[in-house]
Amino acid sequence: MAVKISIIQILALFFPHLVFVSSLNFSYPAVFNFGDSNSDTGGLVAGIAFPLGLPMGQTYFHESSGRFCDGRLIIDFLMNATGQPFLSPYLDSIGAPDFRTGCNFAAGGATILPPTPYSLCPFSFNLQVAQFIRFKTRVFELLAEDKNLQKYLFPEDYFKDGLYMFDMGQNDLEGEFYYRSEDQVLAFIPSLLSQIEKGIQKLYNEGARNFWVHNTGPLGCLPRLITTFGKNSSELDQLGCVKSLNNAAALFNLQLRDFCTKFQEQFSEVNITFVDIFSIKLDLISNYSEYGFKEPLAACCGIGGPPLNFDPRINCGQTKNLDGSIVTAKPCSNSSEYVNWDGTHYTEAANRHVFEQILKGNYSYPLMSMNEPLEIPVTIPPQ
Ligand SMILES: *[C@@H]1O[C@H](CO)[C@@H](O)[C@H](O)[C@H]1NC(C)=O
Ligand SMILES: *[C@@H]1O[C@H](CO)[C@@H](O)[C@H](O)[C@H]1NC(C)=O
Ligand SMILES: *[C@@H]1O[C@H](CO)[C@@H](O)[C@H](O)[C@H]1NC(C)=O
Ligand SMILES: *[C@@H]1O[C@H](CO)[C@@H](O)[C@H](O)[C@H]1NC(C)=O
Ligand SMILES: *[C@@H]1O[C@H](CO)[C@@H](O)[C@H](O)[C@H]1NC(C)=O
Ligand SMILES: *[C@@H]1O[C@H](CO)[C@@H](O)[C@H](O)[C@H]1NC(C)=O
Ligand SMILES: *[C@@H]1O[C@H](CO)[C@@H](O)[C@H](O)[C@H]1NC(C)=O
Repeated sequence: MAVKISIIQILALFFPHLVFVSSLNFSYPAVFNFGDSNSDTGGLVAGIAFPLGLPMGQTYFHESSGRFCDGRLIIDFLMNATGQPFLSPYLDSIGAPDFRTGCNFAAGGATILPPTPYSLCPFSFNLQVAQFIRFKTRVFELLAEDKNLQKYLFPEDYFKDGLYMFDMGQNDLEGEFYYRSEDQVLAFIPSLLSQIEKGIQKLYNEGARNFWVHNTGPLGCLPRLITTFGKNSSELDQLGCVKSLNNAAALFNLQLRDFCTKFQEQFSEVNITFVDIFSIKLDLISNYSEYGFKEPLAACCGIGGPPLNFDPRINCGQTKNLDGSIVTAKPCSNSSEYVNWDGTHYTEAANRHVFEQILKGNYSYPLMSMNEPLEIPVTIPPQ
């Protein structure tokens, strides 16, 4: 069967902050998320008290939130819109995690492939899946011991009815570019897909049926990578992004999409929604002024000024002696004007934009056959 791309009905704006979404079903009793810094709600910071090699400054805004952003991430907006609390990270045993609506296994720097000794982050996809299985086993044990614990955990069938989110890939692709040519990176992508397939299959075997997959963003548009891989203007496209990196991201996304379609066709009881984050972000970067932004590429929190306001020697929030003078990479005065936060991650304003585009449905493809659309009221949090 060919892929059925059902473009979902559009939101109807009745009130400035009230949106009705048709068919885009995000009303699951629990959400389990697997990912990297794009959806890390504190996992890496909780897991590695002081993330080696990762400047603490990157958590500048929300030092306690552990997010790589000046505010909320896409997943925060999605959870909030359906009236659910933000997802607690699995590794957060120190804070007061609330696992009643799911659990976040994402960790900044995470890769799809198992980590190498040089990896920034040990929590690769297969490890996150293993953590999930441990988590699930523990919930079953606890519930068997004491049914009263239900008010702190959740009923077993949430594992079947819950939503399994996936957002990973950019760290693997970036890592390859340091020692491979573009052609070699493109040829390496299928090995990422087979690892994804293994992980998703394991989750399926554990009972997961509803999947929500974000593809990877335009890697070549991140100031840190433009600085590294775009020194020669022949490397850049008309937006100023590194062509080879975006090509790799696009090919990865194509294969990810093919995998999702295949998986959907193989298991009729599975529902996969595929969200084209790449197109949303590329559209934002190329049409930024229409969306109320002033800086499509430059980092808000950095130093160096235009065009990128990024210096690889000093990260957001850090103070250093550079060429004899003490400088601090500080946030810009209004981060809502910037798409990019710190050279690697997006601002809250950009994440909000992506979230709003997801809600509109133009970029989300449920790969399933659709039911009668049902209107789910969701509230967009105030600015
Ligand atoms: C959304 O998914 C949940 C969990 O599978 C289900 O209970 C609910 O009926 C679905 N809603 C729609 C509108 O499909
Ligand atoms: C959503 O965010 C708004 C604004 O930050 C907050 O007031 C509200 O309590 C949040 N809702 C949930 C369900 O967390
Ligand atoms: C930039 O790339 C072009 C085309 O590949 C090449 O001819 C030129 O020598 C490069 N310039 C520098 C400074 O490396
Ligand atoms: C920018 O906006 C124009 C007009 O809406 C659209 O045709 C174009 O595809 C957008 N750019 C990207 C990269 O999506
Ligand atoms: C910050 O920028 C946004 C987007 O351009 C704008 O709507 C807002 O008014 C600005 N806020 C301040 C305090 O200048
Ligand atoms: C999204 O879809 C709606 C309705 O189908 C359409 O009016 C709107 O122009 C679309 N937006 C984009 C960016 O394609
Ligand atoms: C998948 O989606 C279809 C259509 O929305 C729905 O009827 C079915 O119950 C869903 N399956 C699961 C396992 O949630």
